[in-house]
Amino acid sequence: MSSAKFEIRHETDGDAPALSQLAAEAFGPGRFTRSAYRVREGIAPVAALSLCGLLDGRLVGGIRFTSIRIGDREGGVLLGPLIVDPAAAGKGFGTALVAEGLARARAEGFSLVLLVGDMPYYARFGFQPVPPGQVNLPGPVDPARLLALELHPGALAGAAGAVKGYVRQRPSRNQVAAKKPSRRPSARNPVKSGNRRTPLT
Ligand SMILES: CC(C)(COP(=O)(O)OP(=O)(O)OC[C@H]1O[C@@H](n2cnc3c(N)ncnc32)[C@H](O)[C@@H]1OP(=O)(O)O)[C@@H](O)C(=O)NCCC(=O)NCCS
Repeated sequence: MSSAKFEIRHETDGDAPALSQLAAEAFGPGRFTRSAYRVREGIAPVAALSLCGLLDGRLVGGIRFTSIRIGDREGGVLLGPLIVDPAAAGKGFGTALVAEGLARARAEGFSLVLLVGDMPYYARFGFQPVPPGQVNLPGPVDPARLLALELHPGALAGAAGAVKGYVRQRPSRNQVAAKKPSRRPSARNPVKSGNRRTPLT
């Protein structure tokens, strides 16, 4: 039996180079033109949902989520990227990252998770194909790969139209609990959105 230890923790800025390397290997140079990438482009992912998987302290995977509006409706997140080092594939790490990310998205109050991916992989979490034509990404998407998971019942039925990424300003519950007296933003004291993460290249 292997004694290797797998753990999941929040992503930090120092993780971005390793995650970018994994993304480049997994998706290649074409990743920048993918429709899901275009939703995320220039929008910081939700920090509370940006997670890394470490195997004996070595980063072997990561998952991010970006806040989205569908039409004018908020409360959704786009899952992606999800990446696991091919050398560590098939050990359940991808499943663990998705399960943890979904649990945290639910705890953060998000109502709907959208993604572009393989139904045979994501079905295990309860994802279903979005009815064709209901939701539009900024680019072509195979309808069989546009998947959604309702965290609040009925959230998908009420969501239609264009998908746009945005930075959610509402603080997470944890941030509310830890809130300190507010200070005016300034150059020396910039406002913290809680959504900053280094973009993956
Ligand atoms: C997809 C990915 C995250 C899976 O990570 P992982 O840690 O290997 O996955 P797990 O160990 O949790 O699950 C492995 C199972 O999923 C299956 N699986 C993996 N990728 C799959 C896919 N694309 N479609 C269907 N099934 C898949 C495996 O066959 C295995 O099945 P089994 O449990 O019946 O043996 C990883 O292969 C990866 O990073 N791929 C490249 C990037 C990518 O495609 N990301 C998802 C984009 S939406």
